[in-house]
Amino acid sequence: MVGTQWGDEGKGKFTDLLSKEMSMVVRYQGGHNAGHTLVVDDETFALQLVPSGVLYDHIVPVIGNGVVVDPFVLLAEIDMLARRGVSCSRLRVSGNAHLILPYHQQLDALHERHLGKAKLGTTKRGIGPAYADKAMRLGLRVQDLLDEMIFREKLRAALIHTNKVLTKVFNRLPVDPDALADKVLSECLDPLKPYIADTTDLIHEGLEAGQQVLFEGAQATFLDLDHGTYPFVTSSNPTAGGACTGTGVGPRHIDRVLGVAKAYVTRVGAGPFPTELFDDYGNRMVDIGREFGTNTGRRRRPGWFDAVMLRHAVRVNSLTDLAITKIDVLDTFDVVKICVGYEIDGQRVDKLPYHQSELHRAKPVYQEFPGWKTDLSTVRRPEDLPSEAIRYLAFIADQVGVPVSLVSTGPGRDEYLHLVS
Ligand code: GDP
Ligand code: IMO
Ligand code: MG
Repeated sequence: MVGTQWGDEGKGKFTDLLSKEMSMVVRYQGGHNAGHTLVVDDETFALQLVPSGVLYDHIVPVIGNGVVVDPFVLLAEIDMLARRGVSCSRLRVSGNAHLILPYHQQLDALHERHLGKAKLGTTKRGIGPAYADKAMRLGLRVQDLLDEMIFREKLRAALIHTNKVLTKVFNRLPVDPDALADKVLSECLDPLKPYIADTTDLIHEGLEAGQQVLFEGAQATFLDLDHGTYPFVTSSNPTAGGACTGTGVGPRHIDRVLGVAKAYVTRVGAGPFPTELFDDYGNRMVDIGREFGTNTGRRRRPGWFDAVMLRHAVRVNSLTDLAITKIDVLDTFDVVKICVGYEIDGQRVDKLPYHQSELHRAKPVYQEFPGWKTDLSTVRRPEDLPSEAIRYLAFIADQVGVPVSLVSTGPGRDEYLHLVS
């Protein structure tokens, strides 16, 4: 399952929903920059690292090698879930996953401050610096916790570099490697030990036994380090290929790629956004859709549904079908719009321009539809959808070339319907 826009499409909700038919739910990239919301009865869970299948007793939640793990945050999340009666005893964390340590978060904040007006608007969770250390071969992995000597040695080596950056570039105090190692090992090693595993082997054992495995993407296609609106992206590969590299499962095992898209678009943080709205429609999307970050509380930027982006997401991810969420947010709108192409320097284009300067200048070309002006929150069968909503969904499927198989009409676990195409 992948996000097809700029995140917060409702991946958590659909992961929870589809978990009924799964045996494992695996996170393959990102870290606690994600905020995945599950609403079950009157309870709301906002998950950052623990996979969204955790609420089911039969699910083995897995954190794959491609994820960056802040051990303190993971332990706090496990505790939070335990206090709310959800056991994480089946959770397994890849020994190859990299650790986010406090200096990564410090560097994330410092980089952002130094960028000034050009800042990316990161979540300041240390994601970028942790993946940068991984690429520089200076990262520490979860398995390093299991060998105290190695952990201390690697941390010392990593901090030779990082402390130069902290002191000479940012004029900050250096981090004491021994004090940090003492803290991490004393607070995290024992509680995390039971969860650390060879998750690639675990997933393959499951697949060989005929189990269904769901890969839960975090972030989204246009936040992808390679395919997103660089540099306004995250530092991992949320696109479907990331599920292979981030878990150690080859592409031939993947038989469905569900793309999750909002019935409109939102984006948190900086970067181009052709259909962005600054008018009353946008304000109503934010107010009705409660478009504020799950973790950071930031207001999300709203805009109309963009079929150009979605067509690109279909290609990049090999999407088989789509889940459209938050359609109920548009219930009171007199008109709804879908962007079908862009006008760039007087030329009409139907594809995402490869040169990003053009995307910054792109003016959306809209197809307008009458709103359905009906409360969809209680609709559970396709035959109960008003004709205007059917038309809107059918137009999306037609524009992007894959069927809409699921529609979400509210945050709750049972607020959805299946569409048969
Ligand atoms: P994720 O990051 O993709 O998992 O999405 P988030 O959880 O960050 O944001 C989606 C928000 O929309 C959450 O607050 C959900 O509870 C809520 N939500 C999900 N689906 C629907 C829906 O169909 N309608 C409404 N009104 N809210 C929804
Ligand atoms: P979920 O999984 C929306 C955005 C940040 C910023 C950029 C880089 O809940 O959909 P980072 O901290 O990753 O270095 O920030 O990416 N971003 C998200 N936006 N949903 C998310 O996750 C996001 N994770 C990161 O706002 O623009
Ligand atoms: Mg989110």
